[in-house]
Amino acid sequence: MLDVRDLKKSFAGFLAVSDVSFSLPPRAVMAIIGPNGAGKSTLFNLITGHIVPTAGQVLHKGADITGAAPHRICRRGIGRSFQHTNIFPRLTVFECIQAAYIAHHRRGTDFWGRADRLYRDETMALLERLGLADKADELAGALSHGNQKQIELGIALASDPDILLLDEPTAGMSASETRETIQLLRAIAEERGLTLLFTEHDMEVVFQVAERIGVLHQGRLIAEGPPADIRADAEVRRVYLGGH
Ligand SMILES: Nc1ncnc2c1ncn2[C@@H]1O[C@H](COP(=O)(O)OP(=O)(O)OP(=O)(O)O)[C@@H](O)[C@H]1O
Ligand SMILES: [Mg+2]
Repeated sequence: MLDVRDLKKSFAGFLAVSDVSFSLPPRAVMAIIGPNGAGKSTLFNLITGHIVPTAGQVLHKGADITGAAPHRICRRGIGRSFQHTNIFPRLTVFECIQAAYIAHHRRGTDFWGRADRLYRDETMALLERLGLADKADELAGALSHGNQKQIELGIALASDPDILLLDEPTAGMSASETRETIQLLRAIAEERGLTLLFTEHDMEVVFQVAERIGVLHQGRLIAEGPPADIRADAEVRRVYLGGH
């Protein structure tokens, strides 16, 4: 589903991502972990076209998408959410998700005309699945941080992706909210046959949910494999996991 080959990004000589390679088979659930500044967000931005790599390749279903524009990569089926919440605060929750459906289906020309009638059923079904149906008419900007992160997830799902890249989907959530959100995410990924790549700081959640874990340290992928291997890896324990 996704092949990352020798990916590299240098910011004025500083290597934020250094020769990172890994592959994601269809329906895989993989977490990328690593300390602050390890290069996790940069790696995601390289995959989704928000940052152009200095070297290396990104392949989606075998096709080279290295350096393609973000909207093209999204349209191919790679959806994402950002570390910093990115919603439309003045729209209602319903309108946020509906706008994402309309944008994905390129109905932009009708946007100010009959937009309110488009994709209503799809929007409501997705809100129900996310547990947000009772907040459909509230302003997105007025909701709790946790609910806003869920709206972001909804916006990403409305583009009907086959891979979802989520950069700290639970940032700022309590431990119980984090657990619920990741479980919901995993369930939705299973229902839709999605491939999931996410970053997450709660190691308990990561080791419980991910089938594969990649560990970034100073831009390098120092280990990659099933949770048991990562837990047992001496270098990972030394640089990151410590007491976990
Ligand atoms: N646009 C940029 N220009 C210069 N340096 C950058 C830029 N973006 C990121 N960096 C640097 O690259 C390194 C990796 O940053 P990145 O945001 O990818 O880390 P991260 O693993 O996502 O960290 P966090 O856990 O804090 O989100 C950091 O040292 C950061 O300061
Ligand atoms: Mg980050």
